[in-house]
Amino acid sequence: MPDDGSTVAHRIDKDVLSAAMPGLLGDQKSLPPKLFYDDVGCRLFGDITELPEYYLTRTERILLDVIAPAVAALCPRGCALVEYGASDEGKAEFLLRQCDPSGKPVFTDYVPIDVAEAALRQVAWRLRSGRPYLRVHPMAADFLLPVLLPASLAATPRLGFFPGSTIGNLEPGEALRFLRQIHRTLGDGSRLLVGVDLRKDAARLIPAYNDASGVTADFNLNILARLNREAGADFDLSAFSHTAVWNDAESRIEMHLVSTRAQAVRLGAYRITFRVGETIHTENSYKWTVDDFVGLAVQAGWASVQVWTDPEALFSIHLLEIATTTGGAEQVGRAS
Ligand code: AVI
Repeated sequence: MPDDGSTVAHRIDKDVLSAAMPGLLGDQKSLPPKLFYDDVGCRLFGDITELPEYYLTRTERILLDVIAPAVAALCPRGCALVEYGASDEGKAEFLLRQCDPSGKPVFTDYVPIDVAEAALRQVAWRLRSGRPYLRVHPMAADFLLPVLLPASLAATPRLGFFPGSTIGNLEPGEALRFLRQIHRTLGDGSRLLVGVDLRKDAARLIPAYNDASGVTADFNLNILARLNREAGADFDLSAFSHTAVWNDAESRIEMHLVSTRAQAVRLGAYRITFRVGETIHTENSYKWTVDDFVGLAVQAGWASVQVWTDPEALFSIHLLEIATTTGGAEQVGRAS
């Protein structure tokens, strides 16, 4: 109990509070999407990936299953797979199971990078027990920040892997900087496989972000519940509703929480007021065309090797390589 005599019993997480505060004080209120992913949010996101309306995960997995042999065929044996945002190894498995023509595994090192330390430990434990030859180098870090790969991989060829269209949650400028940073981290001769959701009809997109069973609504509202649990806020969840809108000019789905009445909410030392209908903008999910994404990658110093899409053109997977020919980068033609 605090010694000021108040009855606030919960512990305030200063990092959560300071992440939330600036956006809630702006004209268009907003919250950073990284606040979605506490334990409850991670579980709800897992549920989203299985929704009939959320085609992204399902489609990417089908594509990965088909293309993994072609991707592995371009990688020399003894390659390291470096995955950005790897709280489970489910998608990496499509690549890790690939063997060369003599039956030897192509990938002998795996570097999962994620902030979720406990999840990373489990990934490492499962993989080390299931694939004893695989050297797993878990890195607990915010993958958006520059990382230094283990020194033991200095001479190892690398394939970067950034699945799930998480790149779509970055502003285009941030996505460009991130692609440049991966380029610097992986170095000459490396390749990168990125999953990117495609621009499409709003009629297909909106239900993917506002499903009939309300799981995405719970995911969105959990950000307020988290502020109540961890930052001493007193949001009344029944006075906010989830909405997903397509912003055609920006080519993005926006998620918002709409205040259904005039209200005031406590957050730290602040009292934040809401008008009826005022929103908190919680997430952007950019949808790229194949050509625009290739253009972005080229601007970041990558060259496009191949792009795969599903028959409905819902989702794309881009294989990129470093454009420079210095430092012994292998020349790769377009695969079939
Ligand atoms: C993690 N990310 C790729 C998801 C997306 O589709 O933008 C997050 C999400 N938000 C609502 N549903 C899923």
